[in-house]
Amino acid sequence: MDNIGRDIEKAALLLKAGSLVAIPTETVYGLAANALNPDAVLKIYEVKKRPFFDPLIIHIHALEQINHFVTRVPEKAKLLAEQYWPGPLTLILPRTSIIPDIVCSGLPHVAIRIPRHPLSLQLLASLDFPLAAPSANPFGYVSPTQATHVADQLGNEIAYILDGGACEVGLESTIIGFNEEEEVQVYRLGGLALEEIEKITGPLHLNINHSSNPRAPGQLQSHYATRKKLIVGKNLEEELTRHAHQNCAVISFCKEYRLKKPAYMKVLSASANLQEAAQGLFAAMRQLDETDADLILAEFFPDTFLGKAINDRLQRASSGEE
Ligand code: TXA
Ligand code: MG
Repeated sequence: MDNIGRDIEKAALLLKAGSLVAIPTETVYGLAANALNPDAVLKIYEVKKRPFFDPLIIHIHALEQINHFVTRVPEKAKLLAEQYWPGPLTLILPRTSIIPDIVCSGLPHVAIRIPRHPLSLQLLASLDFPLAAPSANPFGYVSPTQATHVADQLGNEIAYILDGGACEVGLESTIIGFNEEEEVQVYRLGGLALEEIEKITGPLHLNINHSSNPRAPGQLQSHYATRKKLIVGKNLEEELTRHAHQNCAVISFCKEYRLKKPAYMKVLSASANLQEAAQGLFAAMRQLDETDADLILAEFFPDTFLGKAINDRLQRASSGEE
């Protein structure tokens, strides 16, 4: 396809003209538009079929830019940004009036981050506006971690896909906000482990929304879902026995399971490395979704570091309707 490549200038021209460009980040690919152009941002919602109550993250390339877009930066936010940007951390902060309502679903706060990918950082540095970018997948589906994932689902609707290879982290950013007392709130588990955040901020309050009609949007219970039914369990041997009459596809952390029928298995990290597992999770979910298996069985990962975010995504994927 001629609309995939590594041409930063082409991407910049298209974005300046109000078109959509998919961009690589260290977490997942984003579907980007000029965040200060409401007509361009509207196209993101249309292409993704995303409800307007679900606000977008804006991407910048340097910490100094933040003052254009937010009115106040709590001390702990500053420390986190200094430590982890560029990186898989999004901060929710009170916004300035420069940001169009459509970016934030009319909320008084904006979600903001500096992504850690050389192509996107160069692209952002060549623009005089930030990029609004949700994950570049149809609403509710698994996020893309390779350019071809974007091309497969949205290729016809996007002007250009900037190909930055496979995403290094593989899970969306961790989203952090602050209450009135400036205590740290975790809104979404993600590519930066809570243990790393706690080191800087001290105790965290988990404020992760599990309802199906959330006030803090984007945390719908059924999200990141494959089309095939996905079941996540503590004991995969038991699940395999229970589903012995079906053709199962398996997502395992480090162990090979013995499968009777012709089946598909993804061992995400033979050396039991959670980072490696996170990197490959979404690609594995997509690949298994394309097989003729009847269902996908996944095991819970160790509930620490990135394992927490992996478990969160598997649980949301498993809440989908049959
Ligand atoms: O890693 C990532 O964060 C990727 C890359 C492309 O940067 N982006 C991403 O965006 O995952 P998206 O749209 O799929 O998820 C953004 C989520 C929203 O669904 C919502 O939960 C939260 O961020 N969010 C955004 N703006 C918010 C706001 N003003 N208040 C509360 N939550 C907000
Ligand atoms: Mg998303």
